Amino acid sequence: MKRRRLAIVGFGRLGQACGSAILESDDLALAGIVRRPDTLLSPRPAQFADVSTVSHASELGELDAALICLPTALVCEAATDLLQHHTPIVEAAAFDIGLRETHWHTIDRMAVRRGVQAVVGAGWDPGIRGLFEELFAVLCPKGGTATHDRPGVSLHHTLAARAIPGIRDALCAEFKGVDGSARRYVYVELLPGADLEPAARAIRSDPLFLNEETVVLPVDSVATLEEEGHGLVIERWGRASGKDHQRFLLEGRFDHVAIAGQVMAAAARALPLLRAGAYPLNRIPLAALR
Ligand SMILES: NC(=O)c1ccc[n+]([C@@H]2O[C@H](COP(=O)([O-])OP(=O)(O)OC[C@H]3O[C@@H](n4cnc5c(N)ncnc54)[C@H](OP(=O)(O)O)[C@@H]3O)[C@@H](O)[C@H]2O)c1
Repeated sequence: MKRRRLAIVGFGRLGQACGSAILESDDLALAGIVRRPDTLLSPRPAQFADVSTVSHASELGELDAALICLPTALVCEAATDLLQHHTPIVEAAAFDIGLRETHWHTIDRMAVRRGVQAVVGAGWDPGIRGLFEELFAVLCPKGGTATHDRPGVSLHHTLAARAIPGIRDALCAEFKGVDGSARRYVYVELLPGADLEPAARAIRSDPLFLNEETVVLPVDSVATLEEEGHGLVIERWGRASGKDHQRFLLEGRFDHVAIAGQVMAAAARALPLLRAGAYPLNRIPLAALR
């Protein structure tokens, strides 16, 4: 299979995340990185040492797409320039909701005029997060959604979990559900040879956790989780097919820039299947992203 040649424009946090996602993929190739003249020669992480770095995408030859990872205010101009040169683009700029639509329309008009494809808002937020929320609303059309960013960490419960035999380290995040009850997510790093189930049972039967919904999740390293983790809980409740009290939860703790990079790389796969114009993720078949 011929790898699709992608350029990254802007090599900050998101640009580097896109680069890592491309290098780890089996079907994409990093054609080069487009940087400002004054950072062109700046040191790069070792994995990108052999990648061409240029000051304009046109220096990279034939490209299948460019992933725009510039500060928000510069994205529209860069997108216009690339589309004028018939290069398909992916962008994920985090505009406020009001400005987002206008930005997407501007890119759409240019993409249609030039006969080129674009995927817009292809990150975590804007991006896949909205898809999860839409999917939940399909399941429970009559109801409500609550999204909790960074659920609070409970020191008390964290210390209790750390004292359980078999656990090397733990972190307990908690949030109040729509019914006012506390829900807890306990991330545990086990000692070598320890089993999750007895440790999880011991946590749930600890008086501090009794009578509250507690989910125990194993992780490789609690320290890494604390350093990189962006916590999120999306909760949807409501009525489906005449039945009340349906409830769905999405719980995640992750590096949202890494996820945005992964989504931009996925969006680049979908480009050849699209007609000219700009598409947010909810207008792209899921299968085209894989
Ligand atoms: N949708 C999502 O989930 C999501 C997540 C994260 C970020 N984003 C979006 O991604 C974009 C980039 O975010 P980021 O966190 O990667 O930003 P960043 O770390 O500041 O990187 C931006 C890069 O753009 C380049 N650049 C070009 N002209 C610049 C200028 N005048 N000032 C500063 N940088 C300039 C620089 O790279 P060079 O030195 O290589 O030129 C810089 O490192 C933003 O639009 C942000 O909203 C979206």
